[in-house]
Amino acid sequence: MGHILAIANQKGGVGKTTTVVNLGAALAERGQHVLLIDLDPQGALTASCGLDPYTAAPSTYTLLTQDGTRLGQVVRPAGEHLWLAPGSVDLAAAEYLLMSRPDRSRRLAAPLQAEAEQVAYVLIDTPPSLGLLTVNALTAAEAVLVPVECRYLAMRGIRAILDTVGTVRERLNPSLDLLGVLPTMHQPASAHSRQVIEELRAAFRERVFDTVIEVEEALATAPAARLPVLAHRPESAAANAYRRLASEVEARLASPPPART
Ligand SMILES: Nc1ncnc2c1ncn2[C@@H]1O[C@H](COP(=O)(O)OP(=O)(O)OP(=O)(O)O)[C@@H](O)[C@H]1O
Ligand SMILES: [Mg+2]
Repeated sequence: MGHILAIANQKGGVGKTTTVVNLGAALAERGQHVLLIDLDPQGALTASCGLDPYTAAPSTYTLLTQDGTRLGQVVRPAGEHLWLAPGSVDLAAAEYLLMSRPDRSRRLAAPLQAEAEQVAYVLIDTPPSLGLLTVNALTAAEAVLVPVECRYLAMRGIRAILDTVGTVRERLNPSLDLLGVLPTMHQPASAHSRQVIEELRAAFRERVFDTVIEVEEALATAPAARLPVLAHRPESAAANAYRRLASEVEARLASPPPART
């Protein structure tokens, strides 16, 4: 079975979707088969792959809410070595619909475990909340990657997601690991931004990736072109940063788990 990674942080606009798109593209560029899963009702991942989250069907909403839906019915091609399970705006109602079901936290884990063996990596994009959609992603995942914006209060936010990871590990998914903390939207000219990275490294040590994603226009314009930055601006610093992240992710997953916790 492939590696299943959740990309999560309850803070909005920290680079979760950007990381799913571009880490996915960078792993695909290395020849790996990659499945991207959109669990966010905003559907930004789906839109940046060129599909309309208002009309995408079947979608992850179907997968989560309709018994018997197979992953293969939802997944579609999204590029060379890349596939997408699109999200739809209906996902906003899924949390409510699932609330009374005893298997509410395993609605993604079950179909993924049954069918994810064809791909090397599954990257799950999550909404900016710690609700049931994010819990479904963490329950299905082997490890979580937490993007953190290099700004004040970043540290406070990270505790909330790590507490949720701890709760999911205790109750639902004992093997869930923290793959790493990814500093995003770094501004090298800003002393403040540099200080946030120092604080992250002091608090989370080797769990912080060596790769840092800087603020770069190409990352903001690529979604409008419906392309990962690796295709939109292949030689940009951002494209190269996501390539370095892909090799770090592969190295971390290849090392024994105790080194990563
Ligand atoms: N390093 C960067 N430099 C410049 N713009 C960026 C960078 N990373 C992300 N962006 C832009 O910032 C916005 C927010 O990024 P993104 O959508 O990836 O965050 P998110 O955490 O997924 O947000 P949400 O919580 O709403 O899902 C997007 O418009 C994206 O294109
Ligand atoms: Mg997003």
